[in-house]
Amino acid sequence: MKLLDATTRNISDAAEMIIAGGLVAFPTETVYGLGADGLNPIAVSKIFEVKNRPAFNPLILHVANINQLESICYLRNTKLELLISEFWPGPLTLVLPKKDIVPDIVTAGHNTVAVRMPDHPVALSLISKTAAPIAAPSANKFGELSPTSAAHVAKQLNAGVDIILDGGSCKVGVESTILEIKENEIILLRPGGLPIEDIEDVVGKVSLLTITNKNPNSPGQLLFHYAPKIPLIFLNDDADNKLKGKRVGALLFKENKYQMEFDTVRFLSEKGDMREAAANLFSNLHELENSNIDIIAAEPIEEKGLGKAIMDRLLKASNKY
Ligand code: TXA
Ligand code: MG
Repeated sequence: MKLLDATTRNISDAAEMIIAGGLVAFPTETVYGLGADGLNPIAVSKIFEVKNRPAFNPLILHVANINQLESICYLRNTKLELLISEFWPGPLTLVLPKKDIVPDIVTAGHNTVAVRMPDHPVALSLISKTAAPIAAPSANKFGELSPTSAAHVAKQLNAGVDIILDGGSCKVGVESTILEIKENEIILLRPGGLPIEDIEDVVGKVSLLTITNKNPNSPGQLLFHYAPKIPLIFLNDDADNKLKGKRVGALLFKENKYQMEFDTVRFLSEKGDMREAAANLFSNLHELENSNIDIIAAEPIEEKGLGKAIMDRLLKASNKY
């Protein structure tokens, strides 16, 4: 594995590597992605291997322009143009009917494909130079914390990754919001870096996916995910009991309003700014995971705007324990 600064020269080398069927971790505005040529099924299969990702969980194809988008999916919905012109490039993934050119391994056999145009100069340049859509999940081991820096990627993934392009830390810090675009309905599959309120301002009401016994493993809806290697609980009424006798690392929003002794404390945003909080979420969790503590105690965040994505990630981390 080579860890390289994202210079023009190194981005070109990384594109060559992807064209040759290799794996390149690269920065986006949300989190780092682990990329392969999205039209090369053998290259894509390496992503699943390196991440230990179950094959039923489909991948996002990243595009740099509308021609690439049109080559992989059908754009039939009238609200689609609005979403694309308003929010791309940006932290919004759209699930659309796929064209035959997209390999089954990318979509896990579904007849839809997830697509996104990332708002990051390194990602866009890498995709353009590769001249193919790049399939990329977050560059972490399956179920673990997402990476928002090149060092986070290097900590979890090593063997099997050819190049990590270092482009600094990700400014959004949580994964993209995912919408499935149906003929008469837009469904939220994952809250993320683009607040749902912003989307509804442009296209009107978005439906929420309800998880039923019929679709417990519906893509993007795994009940636990994004988890640090030590347990995470919320600071609520019965937290006292669960924390007794343990070394506790607290993840707080802007100040410590608890009458408790913590062994270490991280603040998501001392200014109380939700964007800063989202950008700091995974880096704080990575730091707490590496601290000398037994358990993480997180303050519940108000589920408004980006707070919805932050709480989704924390809930999924807490569900593992
Ligand atoms: O911000 C992001 O979205 C990052 C960066 C790298 O772009 N990528 C990312 O990928 O978070 P990943 O693989 O960690 O999450 C993609 C989610 C998965 O939960 C997957 O189940 C869902 O997208 N997904 C992919 N294709 C889908 C499809 N055809 N239908 C429904 N969900 C899909
Ligand atoms: Mg992921």
